[in-house]
Amino acid sequence: AIERTFSIVKPDAVAKNLIGAIYNRFENAGLKIIASKMVHLSREQAEGFYAEHKERPFFGALVDFMTSGPIMVQVLEGENAVLANREIMGATNPAEAARGTIRSDFANSIDENAVHGSDAVASAEREIAYFFTAEELCPRTR
Ligand code: CMP
Repeated sequence: AIERTFSIVKPDAVAKNLIGAIYNRFENAGLKIIASKMVHLSREQAEGFYAEHKERPFFGALVDFMTSGPIMVQVLEGENAVLANREIMGATNPAEAARGTIRSDFANSIDENAVHGSDAVASAEREIAYFFTAEELCPRTR
């Protein structure tokens, strides 16, 4: 089925000038970028986005990192978009990510791991709504 997923190019990858390289991976995988913008998260925005991780030991470091510089947020649309994006991202820990994936090629560590992608259609809907209004989504007709 055609799905939408939410994606972030994280501060480490923006700082390394990898926005275009990572957008190429999405497009080469057949995923269409239907919304995109650069944002610099406030602590409140980052804490709200990652609220499900609030009790995890890495939460403070995660919020520090995600507010350390600008990010790109985007909505990707395509066949099985949630899983397709997770496949091209690779495992959360770049040391465990398959060769040729975004995290294997571009990420430094489990904390600074270049990209985020929704883990399910339901979380994608919540995450898209956290950053984009309905009017900001531009579905493709060709
Ligand atoms: P992300 O998909 O953005 O969701 C939460 C982030 O926390 C995750 O990517 C990792 O970058 C980071 N993180 C740090 N340590 C861990 C861990 N032990 N397990 C999962 N995520 C972690």
